[in-house]
Amino acid sequence: MSRVIVSKDELDRQREYCVLIGDLFRRVKVSSDRFPTYSIKTYGCQLNESDSEKMAGYFELMGLSENENTPDILLLNTCAIRENAEERLFGNLGHFKALKTENPRMIIIVCGCMMKQSSDLERLRKHFNFVDLVFGPQDIHTLPEMLYHRVSEGQKIVHVSDEDYLPDDDDLPVLRKRRFRALVPIMYGCNNFCTYCVVPYTRGRERSRDYRRIISQLEQLSEQGYEEVMLLGQNVNSYGKDLPGAPEFPELLNEIAINKWFSRIRFMTSHPKDVSDRLIDVMAKNSSVERHLHLPFQSGSNDVLKRMNRGYTRERFLDTALHYRNEIPEGTISTDIIVGFPGETEADFEMTLDLMRRVRFDSAFTFIYSKRPGTAAEKFTDEVAPGVISDRFSRLLHLQNNHSLLSNQSVIGNLEEILIEGISHTNKSVYTGRTSSNRLINFTIPEDSFPVDGSFQITPDNEAWLEGKKAMVRLIHAKTFSIEGRLESFL
Ligand code: SAH
Ligand code: SF4
Ligand code: F3S
Repeated sequence: MSRVIVSKDELDRQREYCVLIGDLFRRVKVSSDRFPTYSIKTYGCQLNESDSEKMAGYFELMGLSENENTPDILLLNTCAIRENAEERLFGNLGHFKALKTENPRMIIIVCGCMMKQSSDLERLRKHFNFVDLVFGPQDIHTLPEMLYHRVSEGQKIVHVSDEDYLPDDDDLPVLRKRRFRALVPIMYGCNNFCTYCVVPYTRGRERSRDYRRIISQLEQLSEQGYEEVMLLGQNVNSYGKDLPGAPEFPELLNEIAINKWFSRIRFMTSHPKDVSDRLIDVMAKNSSVERHLHLPFQSGSNDVLKRMNRGYTRERFLDTALHYRNEIPEGTISTDIIVGFPGETEADFEMTLDLMRRVRFDSAFTFIYSKRPGTAAEKFTDEVAPGVISDRFSRLLHLQNNHSLLSNQSVIGNLEEILIEGISHTNKSVYTGRTSSNRLINFTIPEDSFPVDGSFQITPDNEAWLEGKKAMVRLIHAKTFSIEGRLESFL
């Protein structure tokens, strides 16, 4: 695999294909009286979300509009991190086949990390031959060219590159899903090769984006009115290590913060082996940097950590986590934990619970180990019995839920600044938002709180006005995964 910078000329060429496809579709419209629509379903992590926003940007350039229920172009952006993510995709594909039978014009595109797994690609080719276009996570910038050939020539296309492409994001079109939040990858790929993980195989080697271009992109995003930026990378703390002379992640974070471009700066993920005192210092000194650190520890046993190739010990992890707690006492820590890694003994698992008790994570994503083809751990034979795993998993969840609830209870009564994200899906008189410490707040707004803006009365129906607004909310009642509150004022 090699690293290939995608030039601006190449991206301009792709934009020309968008125009050509638009022309093709306009001709189709004459016969069918309807311009084609698209829908994107995204599985997996924020990096996939970000890729999907770019592909949506291309579709919009082609002149297509979104239609979730009956799209003419359906794009599935897949994830290979665990077996159940893959099974979900294959399960859904059956349903999409039925949609295509109803609408034979429909084009089904499958892309993303699963396409780099040869077993998945084989299965797709063998059993799902109604799929029109297949490409890998490194190929998204060439979507217009591939789609043009599919539409104009009719043949199916499978194109999964091994090159580690680095398209510069500010040259790609983007349709952002949230009007207040900009997802900004600062680097792609991963070099860590944790023995259980597919990401280094699906996303290739680490490559950092040019520092100055990130900075000027962020300045533009701020001018466009984004309140929140989320800096993305599999391991943001190794940002710049592949660029001789480039500033490292804490300096990038610091520069963004001192420019005061955003009310809130978020980032993920931090690998514990690369978190420095400098990072925690920059977080502590800049109030616009979120009061939250996502720090996956995976296992509390040094033996297991070693076999996972994580590059830190439990002692080192504890030092980092406790240092953060000291420096930023109001901050929260979330984590990822894997249960049932091959060879995990009861004593190893007890060490995981022990570490959880010492750090008291404010929230956690908990996973059952899933054997992944092509990874080093695939060959580890001392698998843990499923019954033992499910017993450990429920003990772990019980402890974490307890900690999550205690953490939320500890802030009840506080008046906190939140960034409003929208209206709750389940109850239209409830709004949602997040604190800087990433706590999810569901809150009500007293009728008389809605301001009048000129002759325009802001009401609960003005969701667009609410999204991205800041407000002070009194925290009233703690639940395990959220807090109920009441708005006191808009900011
Ligand atoms: N780069 C991030 C993690 C990305 S994947 C980091 O290193 O922190 C998100 C999480 O999925 C991981 O932290 C891990 O807990 C989980 N995960 C990854 N591979 C897995 C596997 N094979 N089985 C179970 N969980 C896995
Ligand atoms: Fe996977 Fe480890 Fe890289 Fe995270 S750091 S993406 S867990 S290999
Ligand atoms: Fe999944 Fe790929 Fe992200 S495997 S978690 S979509 S990097």
